[in-house]
Amino acid sequence: MSKQDTSGSELEPIEKASLDKLQALQLERMKWSLQHAYDNVPHYRQKFDAAGVHPKDLKQLSDIAKFPYTTKLDLRDTYPFGMFATPMRDVVRIHASSGTTGKPTVVGYTKNDIAMWAQLMARSLRACGVSADDIILNSYGYGLFTGGLGAHYGGECLGAAVIPMSGGQTEKQVQLIQDFKPTVIMSTPSYVLTIADEMIKQGLKPNKTSLRVGIFGAEPWTNEMRLEIEERLGIHAVDIYGLSEVMGPGVACECVDTKDGPHIWEDHFYPEIIHPETGEVLPDGEIGELVFTSLSKEALPIIRYRTRDLTRLLPGTARPMRRMEKITGRSDDMLIIRGVNVFPTQIEEILLKNPSLCAQYQLQVSREGHLDKLDVYVEVRSDLSDTIGEKKRLEIGADMQHHIKVLVGVTADVHVVETDKVERTLVGKARRVIDRRPK
Ligand code: DLL
Repeated sequence: MSKQDTSGSELEPIEKASLDKLQALQLERMKWSLQHAYDNVPHYRQKFDAAGVHPKDLKQLSDIAKFPYTTKLDLRDTYPFGMFATPMRDVVRIHASSGTTGKPTVVGYTKNDIAMWAQLMARSLRACGVSADDIILNSYGYGLFTGGLGAHYGGECLGAAVIPMSGGQTEKQVQLIQDFKPTVIMSTPSYVLTIADEMIKQGLKPNKTSLRVGIFGAEPWTNEMRLEIEERLGIHAVDIYGLSEVMGPGVACECVDTKDGPHIWEDHFYPEIIHPETGEVLPDGEIGELVFTSLSKEALPIIRYRTRDLTRLLPGTARPMRRMEKITGRSDDMLIIRGVNVFPTQIEEILLKNPSLCAQYQLQVSREGHLDKLDVYVEVRSDLSDTIGEKKRLEIGADMQHHIKVLVGVTADVHVVETDKVERTLVGKARRVIDRRPK
């Protein structure tokens, strides 16, 4: 695949700014954001007062560590609009993310917030090598989820032609790829493989389409999965990160020329890494939980938001702003199986080292007697399924079981199955784990 170079494309001045300049801007904006939250959100004021801190105590960026963390619970406790810092008159959009339990978390945006989000999504698209000449098939779900509209506004802001397809209707996705000839696709990484399978089913070649770049996020995916997508679809697969509480997609995005972890758009979001248990701030380079403070958001300023995502901060490469290492999991995705900590992405990495398998997989956990049991279901690649019979599938399963035992330390029954036998998520995030153990 040819290498793309976006370094010469028109960058915003702040994308090239020196560290001093960036930090001066961050400090000025952080002061504003803390004051704005304190003055306009009673919940923040109470928390700051209880912790004995005032926005005026922030003299340098590292002083942010004096301020209390915000979690999903704060948003739940103030459901639906209690964390909004502007009157509803100034709010022009409301999104919500449905957790697995309880009430959704609700987020709001002013006109300026929407403009900033569109600008950062356009910046992200540019980093992926996308321009006004491109046609984007936007297969992120439209609705309360921030993926669809977030990507949509960014594409339009850049001047690209956006097809608002949303997720699902896989046959139609294939038809539009054939007929409208998009050059860019935006979807979850798991869903683009479902689209590739549908093409194979229709006798088409997924690596012979008009698509050049895919921009994938909203769920964890490994570099092994990146290689699978790039090989099967013949495109660049680029990682985009974000979360609704902080904005939506486009908080951070990889550059297509390096693909070495998303650059955080630090002029609007200040990142920290903390120890997930003690809450202590860790230095750059150490793995821990990612925390964000918004620097410019009006409707929903978010101060030291604990994302639960595990990663580390790395120096900038294609851009001066820092990168985050590709996310391999959330602290709440971690399974403890017979005392061993297991992340679904560790299993993904092992499965995808086998060229006959694809990233359609699911982990099912149950309890037999007093012991946990892990079953891994994984599909053979759809373009190979005719050539891989049952005997071969059993052999591959045994081999994978061995590797999982050696590398992760758990015993898993690995079931290698035919195409379409693993549950697909057509809209939204892939369900990688079903845990049937009694609570
Ligand atoms: O998933 C926003 C988004 C939409 C990002 C489209 C990228 C593309 P939420 O539904 O609030 O927002 O979920 C946020 O998804 O805390 C991560 O755990 C996970 N996540 C998002 N992007 C990535 C990524 C959207 N690139 C949660 N890699 C986050 C790994 C990701 N995990």
